[in-house]
Parts: sequence; C-alpha cells; structure tokens
Amino acid sequence: MANLFAVKHISTLKSEAGEEGEHTLRRSLGPVNLITLGVGAVIGAGIFVLTGQAAALHAGPAIALSFILAGITCAFAGLCYAEFASLIPIAGSAYTYGYATLGELVAWIIGWCLCLEYAFGAATVASGWSGYFLSLLEQLGLTPSASLAPFTTTYGNVLYLYHGRWLPFMSLPMGVTDVSGLPHVTGVFNLIAFVVIGVVTVVLVRGIKESANLNSAIVFVKVGVVFIFLFLGIGFLLQHPDLARMNWHPFIPPKIGPGQFGISGIAAGAASVFFAYIGFDAVSTAAQEAKNPQRDMPIGILGSLVICTILYIAVSLTLTGLVSYKALNVAEPVAIGIDATGVKWGGLLVKIGAVFGLGTVMLVMLLGQSRVFYSMSRDGLLPKWAGAIHPKFRTPWISNIIVGTIVAFLPALLPIDKLSAMVNMGTLLAFAIVSAGVWILRVRHPEMERPFKTPLVPLVPICGIVSALYLIANLPTLTWIVVGIWLVVGLVIYFSYSTKHSKVQKLEARATAKQ
Ligand code: ALA
Repeated sequence: MANLFAVKHISTLKSEAGEEGEHTLRRSLGPVNLITLGVGAVIGAGIFVLTGQAAALHAGPAIALSFILAGITCAFAGLCYAEFASLIPIAGSAYTYGYATLGELVAWIIGWCLCLEYAFGAATVASGWSGYFLSLLEQLGLTPSASLAPFTTTYGNVLYLYHGRWLPFMSLPMGVTDVSGLPHVTGVFNLIAFVVIGVVTVVLVRGIKESANLNSAIVFVKVGVVFIFLFLGIGFLLQHPDLARMNWHPFIPPKIGPGQFGISGIAAGAASVFFAYIGFDAVSTAAQEAKNPQRDMPIGILGSLVICTILYIAVSLTLTGLVSYKALNVAEPVAIGIDATGVKWGGLLVKIGAVFGLGTVMLVMLLGQSRVFYSMSRDGLLPKWAGAIHPKFRTPWISNIIVGTIVAFLPALLPIDKLSAMVNMGTLLAFAIVSAGVWILRVRHPEMERPFKTPLVPLVPICGIVSALYLIANLPTLTWIVVGIWLVVGLVIYFSYSTKHSKVQKLEARATAKQ
C-alpha cells in the first residue's frame, strides 16, 4: 500500500538544488531579474482587461477596495511563499513545498492546482491579448473581413461590425441596443490567441536566459505604459474634479443582486480581480535558476507584490474616475480610459504596451508550468518525458511543447471569464495549502534554518487560509463543479500512475525492507 503522506526530505531537496551539470537548469537570475520576472508575470490581463469587467459587473468604483482585499490575501500567501522559497530553493513552487511538509498526495493536489494556475492562466492572458491585438489592428485600419473575423474570437462569441470594429454586444456603446442592422459573425476559433501561445512556447524552448532578458525589457515598457496612463489620467482628473466626483458617486453602488454591487459586489470583485495578482509566486518556480535563492527569492516575491498592489489601486481609482464604471465592460478598458483624457495617441500607446506586456505574462506562466512538470517528473509522479532537458538549450523542451500545444487550444475555444475563474480557484487552493504548510513545518521542524521567516506565525498563515477560502466562496458555482471534476481526474492519474513510480515511495519501501 502506497504511503500517501510520504514526505520528501528537505535534505534531499537541498542536495537536488545543489546539483550542477548539463541535465540541470542554469543559475543565471539575480534579484532584479527575479523582481522583473514577478512583475512580468503579475501585470497583465487582470489590470488591462478584467478590472473593467469587474467594475462594471460587480463592484463599481469600489473595485479599488476589491483590489485591496485581493492584495491582502496575496500578502498573507506571499509571506508564506517567501519563507518556503528561501528554505527550499528549488524549482517546483508550492508543489515542492507541499511535498516537503504535507506529504505526496497533497503535493500532487497542489501540483494539479498549479496546472490550473499556470496553464489556464496563460490561456486567459492569451484571450485578453487577442482582444487588445485585434483592437490595435483595427485602430491601424486593418479591420478583418467578415470571413476572417470568426477566427479572431472565441468559439460561439458573436461580434458586430460597428464603425470599423468587431465588437461583442457588451462592448457596443451604451446607446446602441438595436443590433439587427449591424453585420455580425459568430466566433469559430481564436486563431490569434492560438498563434501567440505558439510563439511564446518557441521562446521558452530556446532558453531561460534569453527569455529573462526579453522579459526585463518588456516589463519596463509595460510598467511605463501604466505610469503614462496614471500620469495622463490623474492630470486630467485634477483639472476636471467634477468628472471624478460624478463617476465615483456612489462609490459603492447599491446592491442589485448577489455579488453585484454593494458589499457582496466588492467581495465578488475581489475574487475576480484576484487574477490580476497571480504570478508573483511564479518567481518561486525559478528558484533553481536563481544565483542566490536564499536572499533573492523573498526579495523577488514580496518586491513584485508590493509594486503591483500600489499600481493596481492607483489604476483602478483613476480608471473609474475617468469613465463611468457602467461603460467599462469592454475588451480594452485601460485604452478607453486614456481615450477619455482626449490624448489622441494615448489609446494606441496603451494597446501597444498591452500587446507586449501581456506577452511576458504568458511567458512566465508557461515557464512556471513546465517547471512544475519538470519537478513532478523528477520525482517519478509524471512520466520521464515531462522532465527531459534539452542538451543544448538546457530547458524542459518536451514539456514546454506539449503544454504549449494544449494551452493554445484553450483560449481558442473557451471565454476569458470562465478561464480566469478556473485559474483563481486553483491558485487560491494552492495558497491555502501553502499557508497551512508553513505553520505545520514550524511545528514539526522548528530547528530548521529559515533565511526568511514569515512574521506572526500562526496568525499570518491562518489569515492566509481564511482569506483564500473566503475568495473561493465568492467564485461562481460552475467553477466549483469544473474544478471538482479536474481534481478527480488528477487523483485518478495519481493513483493509477504516480503511486507506482514515485521515487520517494520507492526509497521508503527499500528502507522498510532493510529493517
Ligand atoms: N496577474 C496576471 C494577469 O493579470 C496573471 O494577467
């Protein structure tokens, strides 16, 4: 009978982390690389796309409060991640931490949740990316013909041609309600999202160093665009304070249904914009590529989280001040916001920034995914191919290619809100388990050297667990069902394959036989 609670000893993890050679990953990332990796993963479709939808549908201007709520949840989890990442500086993220503390079965469940986070996360961002890309093409006068348009959006999504732009019904200007006269098409396959995932996969197969440098350059462009938005937006609002007063009033619109405005709307908004924060933990998956992981992992994780929280609160307040929240349910809300300042080149700039910026998010997400597979395969929980390293590029190339291919189909066929809700659920589950893990390890192994210590244990881990469960409770019911099915599939794989091939199980069996 397999021992489902077998733990992987930290000494084993550390010796694996110390291995060098052509079959291991290259240590090339410093603290600045890690922070940019984090910010590169974090700022993306969440702020550029989902903020507008969440303000329009859930929280109104109080979406800024949703960001604070989601940010607090992430801070608790981030502090726990930082302790683990400094203690266990090897690839694999929460999966590895779970293996060292809570046992193999829980580690598997976390790994499976991380697939939702990283793979579906990359798919969600690809979906948001395609919206900005299409909008950019159209602004440049390259509107797709009616025969091409069905390949620019998700399966089943209806688009209307309005003033040279293909728009879903929800994005048509508020006065336009009769669409019978507008040409329209129904989405077949989002080829734009499919191709962009293919391109990112090729970059990843080529190697981490190239990817990290490209990432750093693009992160600066992305953060630059956010600053320009804030600069123009705040400047405009200071000159037109009445506009802000009107749009921010009422700051918390009255409740019109469960999770729609009022206090419950703020919570539902937080569960939705939580997506905007996802990615800071992806820094921990690069621990094995960090030059000095003990010192730099906490800097990378917490540094990127703090930078992003400040930017999000500022962007959401500025956006809802510039444009009524009711008009923000569009594919490119930040561009709409900057258009409201009257600066002609602003919208174009935001779209260009988003197109490059969202690219880095996909990069880090897919990087994280392949690293989790790499770790699981090395532990014998997944077949060997998932951890095979390319002899020249030193990247887990087979895993990259297989994951990239599957991920490319998701945004082509599924809508962004369904994808992002799945991601949020998977990530929040992983956060709750990681928070519990820090606490458990402190009790079981108080003697271990912890280069970074989560403050106020067990209070912070408990807050991490409770706040993650609170946001999970605010996600749509359908998400619960789909994630439940996902977990059952994962468990079937675990019991039919992993328990038979697990290296930790084999070691334990050998040790028992000797006694
Ligand atoms: N936080 C990332 C984004 O918003 C996943 O795109």
